[in-house]
Amino acid sequence: MQVDEKKTPEWGEKEWFDQHFDGADNSNLGGDNWGHRWRGNQIVRHKHCFALIKNRVKAMHGGAILDLACGLCEFSGLIYSANRTNKIYVTDISENAIKYVEENHKEFSAKVEELPHIDFPPQTMDIIVCLEVLYYLSENDFRLSLENMNKVLKPNGRILISGKVNAGDRYNDEENFIREIERVYSIVKIDYLYNYLENQFEAPFLFILNNFIKNKKGVIARILKFACHSERRAEMLNLLTRKIYGEKGKTHIFILCKKK
Ligand SMILES: C[S@@+](CC[C@H](N)C(=O)[O-])C[C@H]1O[C@@H](n2cnc3c(N)ncnc32)[C@H](O)[C@@H]1O
Repeated sequence: MQVDEKKTPEWGEKEWFDQHFDGADNSNLGGDNWGHRWRGNQIVRHKHCFALIKNRVKAMHGGAILDLACGLCEFSGLIYSANRTNKIYVTDISENAIKYVEENHKEFSAKVEELPHIDFPPQTMDIIVCLEVLYYLSENDFRLSLENMNKVLKPNGRILISGKVNAGDRYNDEENFIREIERVYSIVKIDYLYNYLENQFEAPFLFILNNFIKNKKGVIARILKFACHSERRAEMLNLLTRKIYGEKGKTHIFILCKKK
């Protein structure tokens, strides 16, 4: 008898990413399984990160911006709403994510592409954004991604990269992350987010949501998601974490760079 053994995808595999977009919908508390649309700490992460390029995005006219590993384009949406004259290109490894973007965001030019590959002509992008993805790559692919971004970046362009810190062995060590980036780019600015306390607050809600609620769109799921939704609380806890825990409360690093 033939048994159809369906392997559960592992962290960082292509199918694992695809699963995160399985139930993607357009509602306020919908989106992907990371909760980029409904977790206060994700919304705050996007805003803090965007602050590093906001003025430049606003000042450009008809510029070209590339969002690598765009997911459902919540961050690209921020870029677009700040200045609609720019052309925004987005890529992601997940076919589910790109299908969603193609159906719901005609304002972006989207394609499936797996880092370290970046198939755009040399020196064509004014800004490249690469958020929360490099830690999924092998050391070699991480380096290659940085070099390939450099090839498509215009001489006076900017690259915005983010990653996790204080998050354990699976993720990049902060010093090493900065060192690798400095090998290829000049760093313009580094900023941090301090989500430690907000992460603690939302942990029980996420635990129930992820372990006991199959249909993540029902009433109970919406209540749990709503409990994680407050951007104002996330901002406040971010300030408080910084005050109480200092360096140890850091959760994310944002690095703005330019060509050497
Ligand atoms: C944690 S999400 C971050 C999404 C978005 N950049 C943000 O910051 O909100 C990671 C994203 O990276 C994508 N991804 C993972 N590995 C990738 C690869 N090798 N090439 C392109 N995209 C990748 C996933 O499909 C997912 O959309």
